[in-house]
Formats: sequence, C-alpha cells, structure tokens
Amino acid sequence: MRFLWQKWYEVKDQTTKEVKNMARKLIALVTISLGLFLIFDPSTSVKGVSPEQGKAKSEKKMKKEAEMGSKLFMQYCASCHGTDAKGGGPVAASLKTPPSDLTRIEKVDGKFPTLRIQRVIQGEDVVESHGTREMPVWGSFFRRKGGEGFAKLDISNLTSYLESIQQ
Ligand code: HEC
Repeated sequence: MRFLWQKWYEVKDQTTKEVKNMARKLIALVTISLGLFLIFDPSTSVKGVSPEQGKAKSEKKMKKEAEMGSKLFMQYCASCHGTDAKGGGPVAASLKTPPSDLTRIEKVDGKFPTLRIQRVIQGEDVVESHGTREMPVWGSFFRRKGGEGFAKLDISNLTSYLESIQQ
C-alpha cells in the first residue's frame, strides 16, 4: 500500500513537472510570436506602405524638387525677383512693372495656384489683357536649353520651389 502511494506521488510529481514545462514552453511560444508580430507588423511592412510613409515620401520628393528649383531660380529669376524672391533684384529698378513678390502668391490667391504659376512661368499660352508683359517667357527658353521634357521638369521644379517659400 505504501508503495502504491509513493508511486502515485511520483506520477503526480512527474505530471506537475510536465505541465509546468508545457506551460513554460507555451508562454515562450506566445512571447516569441508576439515579438515577431511586432517586428514584422503587417501595417509597417514594405508591401503595405502606410499612409504616413507615403506622405513622407511625397514630402521628400517635394523637397528635392524645390531644391532643384531653387538652383534654377538663383540662376534665372533672382536678377529681377531677388534672391529672397520678394521682388528686389538688381534689374527690378529698370523695369516698368515691378517684379511680383513671389513669397506672397499664396496669401493673395488663398491657395497656392500650381497650374497658374506654371503657366505664368512658361508664358506662351497666357494671353495678357493689359499691355506687354515684362516677365520673360521661360517655356521656349528651357525647351531650347534641354528639350520638351526638361522644360516641363524645370518649370515644375521652379513651381515647387516657389510653393516651398510661401509666407
Ligand atoms: C526680367 C525680369 C524678370 C525675370 C528674369 C523673371 N521675372 Fe518673373 N516677373 C517679372 C515681372 C515684371 C513680373 C510681374 C508681372 C509681369 O510684368 O509680367 C513677374 C511675375 C512673375 C510671376 C507671377 C506672380 C503672380 O502671382 O502672378 C511669377 C510666378 C514669376 N514672375 C516667376 C518667375 C520665375 C520662376 C522666373 C525665373 C525662371 C522669373 N519670374 C524671372 C520679371 C521677371
């Protein structure tokens, strides 16, 4: 009888150990999978680009365009509009029409008018209702410089730059 009791306790002890072991393994498994889930969170994986990442990318693109536009601006536009784009370039004094303050386009228009600005810079398809325009036509200039594709890119980069300096 005593022997039987002992055996029973042994078995019980063994079972408790096994159960404990299994519980430990289970907890480890859950912890690991939770960790993996957090690391490879589907919402941040490469395939499913989250909206924040998409936004950051387009902001980065805008910044790059504005940077390239800035170089063009200093080269071709600052003589009249000034390096700060406020209209006080060295050539401004000899013009009949003062060059526009290009940092206040958004203030005047309410919202940055990307298309209108592109057309003003390009210049060719704008019908001026009053007199001759003193602002040079840049579409044909950039096209001569680098072809149709580059002309579009230059004008788009310049517009992005102007959008980036609105006050
Ligand atoms: C020869 C001087 C001169 C140069 C160089 C010049 N501009 Fe102008 N710009 C003007 C004048 C003057 C105006 C005012 C409107 C007019 O007379 O056509 C103007 C107006 C503008 C406007 C219109 C703003 C508005 O709110 O309607 C934009 C945009 C502009 N310029 C961008 C540029 C860019 C970009 C460049 C360089 C690629 C440039 N300008 C080079 C003289 C110049």
